[in-house]
Amino acid sequence: MSPTVWTPQRWRELPAAQQPEWPDEDDYERALKQLAALPPLVFAGEARRLTRALGQVAAGEAFLLQAGDCAESFAEFSADAIRDKLKVILQMAVVLTYGAGVPVVKVGRIAGQFAKPRSSPTELVGEVELPAFRGHMVNDDAADAAARVPDPRRLAAAYHQSASTLNLVRAFTKGGFADLSRVHVWNQQFVASSEEGRRYEQMANEIDRALRFMAACGIDLGGEESLHQVDFYTSHDALILGYEEALTRMDSLTGDYYDCSAHMLWVGERTRQLDGAHVDFLSGIHNPVGCKVSASMTTEEVLALCERLNPGRVPGRLTLITRMGAAAVADALPPLLAAVQDAGHPVVWACDPMHGNTFVSEGGRKTRRFDDILAELRGFFAAHLAAGTWPGGVHLELTGDDVTECLGGFGDILEDQLHERYTTTCDPRLNARQAIDLAFRVAEMLRT
Ligand code: PEP
Ligand code: CO
Repeated sequence: MSPTVWTPQRWRELPAAQQPEWPDEDDYERALKQLAALPPLVFAGEARRLTRALGQVAAGEAFLLQAGDCAESFAEFSADAIRDKLKVILQMAVVLTYGAGVPVVKVGRIAGQFAKPRSSPTELVGEVELPAFRGHMVNDDAADAAARVPDPRRLAAAYHQSASTLNLVRAFTKGGFADLSRVHVWNQQFVASSEEGRRYEQMANEIDRALRFMAACGIDLGGEESLHQVDFYTSHDALILGYEEALTRMDSLTGDYYDCSAHMLWVGERTRQLDGAHVDFLSGIHNPVGCKVSASMTTEEVLALCERLNPGRVPGRLTLITRMGAAAVADALPPLLAAVQDAGHPVVWACDPMHGNTFVSEGGRKTRRFDDILAELRGFFAAHLAAGTWPGGVHLELTGDDVTECLGGFGDILEDQLHERYTTTCDPRLNARQAIDLAFRVAEMLRT
């Protein structure tokens, strides 16, 4: 760690993994300077509110639902797409709240999830080897070399798309759309006609009845704010550190720094080095932060990370997002749970059952099996039950669209169907039906 005091720029003195090779450094720095002059996307007070909500998760009193795209796209930027993604997340939250009886903290991988870490600097597209796609904040996913050259003008485009997305998210969640009386409306056509859609509809009817019952008892439902709007937070992988630095501002109220590009930021499996730039950056901002934890992480590493990112042991400040794979979770998770518990760190434990279960199908498409995703979740819940710790949440990649990217589920998507509606620019996402199905199963796991 650098001995100097933390500043939003200090990461520049440290090795930063996964940073693009911008063709012209001066252009890049100019783009960052322009960003630094633009308004913040979120406010410090909102980030503090999320920390408090996550503190309740850490205490075992609430559950975290963090979900959205693997990579948001500049090409998919319609009100309908944003609304449909929100619908699924709201549906899942209702299933979890009603099904398991715990408050759900809702955080989207949205309004800023535009940069991707890659295992290899190049990728094979058909027969051609191209520089890897790194998210629309950096380059384009089109299959030609020119499109893959990092372009710093994309940083401002990502900022502006985030601002518009956030504006719509705020309108939807605060302006009536998220009213619990509209619980039926969130069920999209292609979901409603399915097994899991009908199950949802049944539950929505029960909620209607419960609301009518409360009203008949004389309870003033109109005055109960939590029935009419939801708190919905944003998050993304804090990958491109120049972008995050440019949006980091000092809070006038507290004098603390907040990264105002999103409410919550996380570091990924490839950027969580203890002495690296990303962890240093997260250590100084006061937002709630997350870190991905794979099966290869040692207890020493996890404890050092807890000390580094949350030395004050603030409940809700740090979320550990385990992504171990269905086969590894039973062995790899318990020692970490025990060590963190013994050390007295008040973390949120969330399960990302997506990134440890990715494989390439015979047809050459990246995919995940619904059953593997479920199996990792079961292993996560079992390990927490045995350790006496709280399985605090899930971290998922999903979309509101009727895509065919993950295998299995009620609709039983088969390998030879993957090509039908495979639209992700990066990792395979659950479609809306698979996501609702998963929510019901997680609610069951939580209940027992
Ligand atoms: C992701 O969340 O999209 C991701 C790349 O995850 P990880 O860093 O855990 O591989
Ligand atoms: Co992903």
